[in-house]
Amino acid sequence: MRHWPLTQLTLTTPDLVLRVPDDDQLDELAQVAADGVVSPGAVYFPQPWASGTPEQTAHNVLQNHWWARGDWREDNWRLLLAVLHDGQVIGQQNLSARDFRITREARTGFWLGRRFQGHGFGTQMRAAALHLAFTCLVADRVTSTSYADNIASRRICEKFDYEPNGIRRLAVGERLAEAHEAVLTAERWRAHRQLTTLILGFDECRHMFGMPLAPGPVDVVLHV
Ligand SMILES: CC(C)(COP(=O)(O)OP(=O)(O)OC[C@H]1O[C@@H](n2cnc3c(N)ncnc32)[C@H](O)[C@@H]1OP(=O)(O)O)[C@@H](O)C(=O)NCCC(=O)NCCS
Repeated sequence: MRHWPLTQLTLTTPDLVLRVPDDDQLDELAQVAADGVVSPGAVYFPQPWASGTPEQTAHNVLQNHWWARGDWREDNWRLLLAVLHDGQVIGQQNLSARDFRITREARTGFWLGRRFQGHGFGTQMRAAALHLAFTCLVADRVTSTSYADNIASRRICEKFDYEPNGIRRLAVGERLAEAHEAVLTAERWRAHRQLTTLILGFDECRHMFGMPLAPGPVDVVLHV
């Protein structure tokens, strides 16, 4: 899409492609969510967007994407990427920030359909988001929140050498939930990064993140 250059952004890891979904992919993503994301009774998110009926869950996904696009501003953006494995949509990776030009801090979130969990995809998704944040956007810090129940998400923070950044208590419905905050600095990421990510199309959309024009073309970023 010419006038929404985020659609040209593509992040590729060894097994995955991450991109802003077109309408068919967004519909597929909604179906993946409707088929199930969270284990019954577990608290993984502050809002129970994936705990209603399949139809409610699918609508939540669609409306969240439309809202994120409609509400996009250079100083308050939410990048919601569909994650594809062998051409099939399997989940979503988020990267968001408010006043990034000043704070240099971004935040990640992610989910996979239940049948795609536990295969190492979440690790690759986080690696791709961190690469975009630290290499293309030149972030100082990236944060993550994992609820106490969510061992996989907390383990992924450990794998990337995040530091604990406090525990918040909040009510999720009628339940007390403990949110484990974690932060990764650019220095720690540089010391520990290990997965390959190829990023294409960033130059076309860098202004949408409030980034100044690049001195030269930097739309291909590759590290091993
Ligand atoms: C969180 C999520 C995206 C992680 O993706 P994933 O592909 O399942 O995770 P990975 O397979 O890449 O890695 C998970 C790590 O946690 C470990 N892990 C997972 N469950 C575990 C458990 N019950 N006990 C111990 N370790 C566990 C895995 O062994 C792996 O660590 P390793 O590579 O050292 O072996 C995915 O599980 C998911 O979508 N969960 C539901 C939604 C959600 O929780 N979203 C995040 C909200 S913060």
